[in-house]
Amino acid sequence: MKIKPDIFKGITDKIKLPGKQPVAKVEPKPSAMAPGLVTIKDIIAPSAVEVDFAHLRINNRFHRTFYIVNYPRYVSPNWLSPLVNFDQELDIAMYVYPVEGKGVLDEMRKTIARMEAEISSDIQRGKVVDPTTQAKLEDALSLQEKLAKGVEKFFQFGLYITVSAGSLAELDQISKELQASLGALMIIPKTAILEMEEGFKTVLPLCKDELNVTRNMPTATLATTFPFVSSELSDDRGVMYGINQHNGSLVIFDRFTLENYNSVVFAKSGAGKSYMIKLEILRSLMLDTEVIAIDPENEYEALCQALGGQYITFGFNSLAKINPFDLELIKPEEGENELTRKILSLYALFRIIMGKMTPVEESILDRALVTTYKNKGITMDPETQKNKQMPLIEDLYKVLIGMEEEKAASLAARLEKFVKGAFAGLFNSQTNINIENKFVVFGTRDLEEALRPIAMHIILDFIWDKIRREMKRRILVIDEAWYLMKYKDSARFLYSVAKRARKYYLGLTTITQDVDDFLTSKYGGAIVKNSSIQILLKQHPAAIDQVGDLFYLSQGERQFLLASNVGEGIFFAGQNHVAIRVIASPQEHKLITSDPKEIMKIKEEKQRIKDAQKAKEVQETQPAPMPPSKPIEPVVQPVATAPQPSAVPSPSKPLSDSVLSIKKPEE
Ligand SMILES: Nc1ncnc2c1ncn2[C@@H]1O[C@H](COP(=O)(O)OP(=O)(O)O)[C@@H](O)[C@H]1O
Ligand SMILES: [Mg+2]
Repeated sequence: MKIKPDIFKGITDKIKLPGKQPVAKVEPKPSAMAPGLVTIKDIIAPSAVEVDFAHLRINNRFHRTFYIVNYPRYVSPNWLSPLVNFDQELDIAMYVYPVEGKGVLDEMRKTIARMEAEISSDIQRGKVVDPTTQAKLEDALSLQEKLAKGVEKFFQFGLYITVSAGSLAELDQISKELQASLGALMIIPKTAILEMEEGFKTVLPLCKDELNVTRNMPTATLATTFPFVSSELSDDRGVMYGINQHNGSLVIFDRFTLENYNSVVFAKSGAGKSYMIKLEILRSLMLDTEVIAIDPENEYEALCQALGGQYITFGFNSLAKINPFDLELIKPEEGENELTRKILSLYALFRIIMGKMTPVEESILDRALVTTYKNKGITMDPETQKNKQMPLIEDLYKVLIGMEEEKAASLAARLEKFVKGAFAGLFNSQTNINIENKFVVFGTRDLEEALRPIAMHIILDFIWDKIRREMKRRILVIDEAWYLMKYKDSARFLYSVAKRARKYYLGLTTITQDVDDFLTSKYGGAIVKNSSIQILLKQHPAAIDQVGDLFYLSQGERQFLLASNVGEGIFFAGQNHVAIRVIASPQEHKLITSDPKEIMKIKEEKQRIKDAQKAKEVQETQPAPMPPSKPIEPVVQPVATAPQPSAVPSPSKPLSDSVLSIKKPEE
């Protein structure tokens, strides 16, 4: 046993201090003081390193290094994943040395000649040719051809593993487990006995192979050693989101097990955002989760109808109305009066409607809102809020008109088009809808672009009231959420929903394609931070840097998101992230696709089925020619499906029954 505290010599020398030149170059001239100075190296170095035959001890941790001497003959992609996924702490180092092609070819020629000679001498002597030699020869010939053509290159590959443990016994145990796992992969590891120091250094990320135990490998085999592994995301229960692109396992996840239930989806247009979320909706409904969605593209209609959901359209011609002044009579959250909350929410709404306001105008609006409620007999006292008719926008308009301030008139003017003008029918009515279904969608496509954020705000407020009234496991989907992020007030409202959703067992899903709009708003960033699930699908090159910085994506992940296909992306859930491919069954696909070609085809198919059914019905209802004078007699016929009554039908039985029954043979 030797004690070698200088083992880190040569390692610590390589540690560069930030902003400084390599240590060797700036080493000051040794002065009289130098030996007494404490450097960073002194601080981070262990107090002692003990090198034994088969282990190394640094302070109180034990380490043991293995090198690999043999590999399986055939490997499949990612065959090293059991090693990378090994349950214990271990470090793996792979060394790949390119080898000059010419030398390899010469060597191979000799080996091939030898094998051919062996086979032909076997044949001459009338012996059966050794099948393993035959197989090896075939392998070698195909490799030789590939090397000669330059399709394959040749490498030397070294694989080293260091395991660590807190005690020697534990180290032995882990070593045994590792050897067993590798054995199952047909990999033969050897302990680097008497070379523990070299082994340890070899595995450190210094690229200094001091063990130098290598094996020849062509490119294709080498490529399969690359550890494309990721954490699995397969829960026992939850929704199937897709397929893990790395290992083909299913990504099954229950968002209601995380610290909050919110999710955000970012991707460029057409990347499959809505598709993925529709799939989640479809599968969540099966797990008894209720779903409410705001759908600015009327994309969820087919799905909603197929599932028997409630689809509420907002537009100039639609009948559905929501009065933004509605007061929900629920037990207010602690320290919050329902009217105060409502006025704050309305205040935000009218700031979106009216645009920029001066502080004076803001205070006028504030007072006008209070007065509007007061005129209906509604004050801060919860008792006054019961069973009252709620004010409308026109009541606010009247209050503003009646105010003395000059500015009030200008506010009223900005509101006028919602009371008298083009938009009068839209928001200026009492609420006439209710959320009763397990799946409710609000469609806002028929609204003008400029009105959509306003409508979405009103709808969101309406939904939020319902959610607070009755706690259920719910998902609220806001597609094209950037409409709400365009305005500071609605962005803030959305953020407050995201923040408080958990309390009401609600998972908020925000979908957006406009990353810029979403992330430049400080509330957008906050919503992302308040979402345990983050889904990134194909990104636009212009947005990738912003997204990459926000989600701390590696260069490879950025590239992956730029190049991915429709429905492919990265799924972040808490600490885990996996590359995912979203797939639906053909039945599901029919309900959720938004491809106009496919939708047309599905419609035609439905129409055809309908027509065929109609034709059949018409045929069946045609009265059979039957002389009216003939009385209807019970018909004898064998019955396949109906239960067979054993007795003759009693006279009181209806005719239809007797028609189906078998007449008892006459005695
Ligand atoms: N995983 C998928 N598999 C098959 N088709 C998909 C998938 N994801 C999306 N699509 C198709 O791609 C198109 C765009 O998808 P969509 O969800 O509407 O995009 P986005 O909402 O991101 O703009 C649609 O026609 C949809 O049917
Ligand atoms: Mg979409």
